[in-house]
Amino acid sequence: MKTVCCSILGFGAIGQGVAQALLMKKEYLKSIGLEVKVVAVVDSKGATVNPQGVDLADCLSRKKKNGTVALENITGVEMIRSVNHELVIETTPTDIKTGGPGLQNMFAAFETGKDVITSNKGPLTLKYRELLETAKAAGSKFRFEATVGGSMPIINLANEVLAGNRIISIKGILNGTCNYILTRMLEERASYTDILAESLELGIAETDPTYDVEGIDTACKLVILANAIFGLDVTYKDVEVTGITKITPEALEMAYERGHVIKLIGEVSREKIQVAPRLVPIKHPLAVGGTLNVASVYTELAGEITVTGKGAGPIETASAILSDLISIYGKN
Ligand code: HSE
Repeated sequence: MKTVCCSILGFGAIGQGVAQALLMKKEYLKSIGLEVKVVAVVDSKGATVNPQGVDLADCLSRKKKNGTVALENITGVEMIRSVNHELVIETTPTDIKTGGPGLQNMFAAFETGKDVITSNKGPLTLKYRELLETAKAAGSKFRFEATVGGSMPIINLANEVLAGNRIISIKGILNGTCNYILTRMLEERASYTDILAESLELGIAETDPTYDVEGIDTACKLVILANAIFGLDVTYKDVEVTGITKITPEALEMAYERGHVIKLIGEVSREKIQVAPRLVPIKHPLAVGGTLNVASVYTELAGEITVTGKGAGPIETASAILSDLISIYGKN
């Protein structure tokens, strides 16, 4: 049995989803020879630390009751530097302006020789190359399937499952909030501002929902795909971005009468990185509705491969984090 000692940094919806998934999958992980021992959980107010393993069920109920897990007043970076463990699961909220605490947490993890699995887009959008090089120099593993498409496999699909294929381009819907808004606008003939409030209740929008509707979230995900799959070295400013705020119910209806839906499509290739609303034929594989994400991967040998799935949500995102964890430690 291999014991993986890890910490969870960020205990909002995603961090709690990871804790729930680890509790649900404890016996399964044991059956493949893995024991995952969480030695610290950190939120914005402090941390719970126990080198023998924290009680995750207790952390979840304290978070619900008190709004925090904090029993000690230490930051993520301080915990990373002082507590012995090998994996940091980084699920603090995305900040694409500065990288937020997530960026500092990741560098601290690599500087102390730890592996990192993250769902946090901000640090990867700003400093992908630097993070990758720091991880490599430290001999650390760095996995981030959860940053793009939630539960929908895309990074590991392109880099591992489709290994040997040159990826020509990837095109798809990478923001569930916009997809939901456009779907509901057509169904209800309502304006984007009417549906925005409804979409916020789903709990999948960014803390600042203008990131969703102005295409910024999709652009960040394209930056991650461009760097991680196409080997480029780009940041947000290299993406041409148009959001959905100017789309009217009339435009959606007119498109529908002509056999099309309007979707916010992200596209990345070696030549172009672009987010924009586009007409998609109703029966096309990219014409998925509701909060779903979808991606068509155009490959050299395998042709076109399309995946679809839930691009957000605590347990769905935890599913991608769990798959990264098993792919790092499960085969040892
Ligand atoms: N705000 C994002 C979305 C969450 O709506 O898809 C997942 O990155």
